Amino acid sequence: MSKFITFEGPEGSGKTTVLHEIAQRLESEGWEVIVTREPGGVKTGEDIRKILLEGEAIDDRSEALLFAASRREHLVNKVLPSLREGKIVLCDRYIDSSLAYQGYARGIGVEEVRSINEFAINGLYPDLTLYLDIRAAVGIQRINDNQRAQNRLDQEKLDFHEKVVEGYRQIIHNEPNRFAVINAEQSIEEVVNSAYESIIKYLEKI
Ligand code: TYD
Repeated sequence: MSKFITFEGPEGSGKTTVLHEIAQRLESEGWEVIVTREPGGVKTGEDIRKILLEGEAIDDRSEALLFAASRREHLVNKVLPSLREGKIVLCDRYIDSSLAYQGYARGIGVEEVRSINEFAINGLYPDLTLYLDIRAAVGIQRINDNQRAQNRLDQEKLDFHEKVVEGYRQIIHNEPNRFAVINAEQSIEEVVNSAYESIIKYLEKI
């Protein structure tokens, strides 16, 4: 059975830290795990990411198409081979980021962005998606406190990030079975524990 697990959340939700902690715990329990994120070291994907996050502002639909293209490169060259080897794939952001950021927050439309992404992923939805739930303002405050480097999308105004959160809530509401919603306003340790429990529950079921 496939073990494709994605992590989603707005800026400052602690996603990346949590994901790495979880990978270590799973590995210490004897699971084979790969941690990845788009573009995940796949050369063409990296090139596309540069345009997206460091380049000049681009048209909203071009942005959505480039994210989808980068997603496909990463999926075909990294995710699928790892899943075929039976590994647990923990992926930092995937289709739901495009639905929330491009579809909802940018205003292109969730269903429009879903359709280009369904073309890109060709049926490969995650088996489980952990959503790290945090209010936009709390997440942004965390980023500012940690003085983390900011990319082009981080620099959007607070109301953009509030829309991202609203977008995620809507997506989860329409597809509740794929998601585990984790309260990300707890301490990192508590977030890791809750996320880990959800993953183990899924792994025990398959
Ligand atoms: P990244 O540096 O990975 O940030 P984070 O730690 O927040 O995941 O940057 C990814 C940025 O790109 C982030 O602001 C979210 C955005 N993004 C989209 O808008 N659409 C997408 O499909 C993906 C994957 C990311």
